[in-house]
Amino acid sequence: MKFEVWSEEEIGKKIGEEIIELIHRKENAVLGLATGSSPTCVYRYLTEAYRERRVSFAKVTTFNLDEYIGLSPDHPQSYRSFMNRHLFDCVDIDLKNTHLPSIRDGEDAYLHYDKRIEEAGNIDYQILGIGSNGHIAFNEPGTPFDSLTHIVYLKESTISDNARFFASRDEVPVSAVSMGLSSILKAKKIVLIALGKKKKEAIRRLYEDDPSVDLPASALKYHKDVTIYCDPDAASGILSKVKDYARV
Ligand code: GLP
Repeated sequence: MKFEVWSEEEIGKKIGEEIIELIHRKENAVLGLATGSSPTCVYRYLTEAYRERRVSFAKVTTFNLDEYIGLSPDHPQSYRSFMNRHLFDCVDIDLKNTHLPSIRDGEDAYLHYDKRIEEAGNIDYQILGIGSNGHIAFNEPGTPFDSLTHIVYLKESTISDNARFFASRDEVPVSAVSMGLSSILKAKKIVLIALGKKKKEAIRRLYEDDPSVDLPASALKYHKDVTIYCDPDAASGILSKVKDYARV
């Protein structure tokens, strides 16, 4: 696991360029995408590159990590509408090739999500954010490392963290469908973005501690190609210990 420290803009550029390079190499690349404020720097970079005609998403397939239960796809805070707004509606991707896990097509539709990813050839490049309690996707502390896509009941801390996107805390859904930790570890390459002081403690634990279900992101230590991109605030608990990082 590699740690790098850059400004948010630089992180967007570095990951964006890697994705562009991947699509140039493999036009039907499979991307694993995340929502939240952290990955928007990447989506801004990719949208701009598309406008400059440096990349086309026409043959690309995407799988998102998670989706709330109980919000319709056109609700402004559903992850479907987040993705449409921040990326899909801004580039030439075919919406038919964009997937989010859901229970809408039947109570057990989410059970087929891992199979669909496998049939698409598995994820070439997975983007992750991290929750302040160390969750990735909606895999809350305690989630087994061998979990596949499943229904999740959100922790109070996650509901509070995400309340900023809703008119009130009561409107935040209490459950979601999420890819599991094992689903995520099947991606060929993984990058995690952590921005801001609120992520400092999770990043410190990720850097210092052995893998444990108490910190879901620590499952990534079992993957051979993971880079953790932090801004200086998120990295402030480890800066003195990380030897191999770029100062901004
Ligand atoms: C939500 C999402 C996660 C995301 C996390 C952090 O809980 N399900 O995938 O990583 O929020 O979000 P942010 O990047 O806004 O801090």
